[in-house]
Amino acid sequence: MSFLSKTLSRVKPSPTIAMSAKAQELKAAGRDIIGLSAGEPDFDTPENIREAAKAAIDAGKTRYTAPDGIIELKEAICAKLKRDNGLDYTPKQVSVGTGGKQTLYNALMATLNPGDEVVIPAPYWVSYPDMVLLAGGTPVVVEASLENNFKLTAEQLDAAITPNTKWFIFNSPSNPTGAGYSHDELKALTDVLLKHPHVWVMTDDMYELLAYDDFKFCTPAEVEPQLYERTLTCNGVSKAYAMTGWRIGYAAGPEHVIAAMRKIQSQSTSNPCSVSQWAAIEALNGTQDFIAPNNEKFVRRRDMAVRMLSAIDGITCPKPEGAFYVYPSIAGLIGKTTPAGTKITDDETFATALLEEKDVAVVFGAAFGLSPNFRISYATSDEELKEALNRITDFCASLS
Ligand SMILES: Cc1ncc(COP(=O)(O)O)c(C=O)c1O
Repeated sequence: MSFLSKTLSRVKPSPTIAMSAKAQELKAAGRDIIGLSAGEPDFDTPENIREAAKAAIDAGKTRYTAPDGIIELKEAICAKLKRDNGLDYTPKQVSVGTGGKQTLYNALMATLNPGDEVVIPAPYWVSYPDMVLLAGGTPVVVEASLENNFKLTAEQLDAAITPNTKWFIFNSPSNPTGAGYSHDELKALTDVLLKHPHVWVMTDDMYELLAYDDFKFCTPAEVEPQLYERTLTCNGVSKAYAMTGWRIGYAAGPEHVIAAMRKIQSQSTSNPCSVSQWAAIEALNGTQDFIAPNNEKFVRRRDMAVRMLSAIDGITCPKPEGAFYVYPSIAGLIGKTTPAGTKITDDETFATALLEEKDVAVVFGAAFGLSPNFRISYATSDEELKEALNRITDFCASLS
């Protein structure tokens, strides 16, 4: 019998982290790898935020804090949720964790019992189903179609809900597709939730500020205030503020759930890094001036990626509303063979051959629950992105 836990055997390691690690390994071995697999901005953390962290260190803010965050950060989060989303929360309704990932994990650990179902639209962020499994619940994956721009319909959500459904996980703009739900599209989903009072919504708003063109971000409790009492609004500073390494995320919701999440955190990581918390206060309260120019760069890269990928025979690439990902379909390439003799049977063989034969790292769609696709993160320099897209174009043209 294995020494390891049975629960762990139900879970797979993060495929995006695995792909980035493989790309780094090949790079270290001297290969000219271009990595388009990591989900993080290529920008540095803005200077005002770095300065706030240095000041916090010098002021001795280097000790344990309250397990789910200092009051000053919770107040900054409440102010942000009011300012940007029109939502009223008090600090007692806020939990700060070590990254958005830990807050989502805490929430699932704090609420799921065996038999509880969690509805997850696919393609999904890789961690949702595995976190649900780790917490003892059952993921119920519902595939959104490319034809509907990877967005779940009201009918699909309604059909997936059973008496055992506890949570609906919502993510817009989405990782891995960049798809963003308009107010009306989200309202159609919240109307379904109104019919099912036992279902709560966990909304992962991590890419809120990375919204492009005339797309207007909205979040469930804002669109349907009647859902306020059963919504956990999750967000963080990792993406828009280029703070992935600082590890600060947060959730706001009913006090008893926040208290349960605090209990878990107090017995696992104690508290998120004290210095990072002070930096996050500056991120939320300080100037937001760098976001628009950063977004302009992302829009330029998104447009280049969509244009070049759409020009490839066999690839279909919808134009996303936000985040920094595109999620092209390779349905038209299945069955072809690479110059090295590999048959493209699915998106995994495609991504592996692309890495081995053209030195470009992307993540295959099966990792996100919808095939045959792959995810490109365009949060990389214009030059690298262009070179990678040229290589993908050449690779696809070389298939026979
Ligand atoms: C949709 C989504 N939610 C949450 C996270 C986790 O963010 P953090 O780095 O703050 O843990 C990510 C990171 O990739 C993400 O893409």
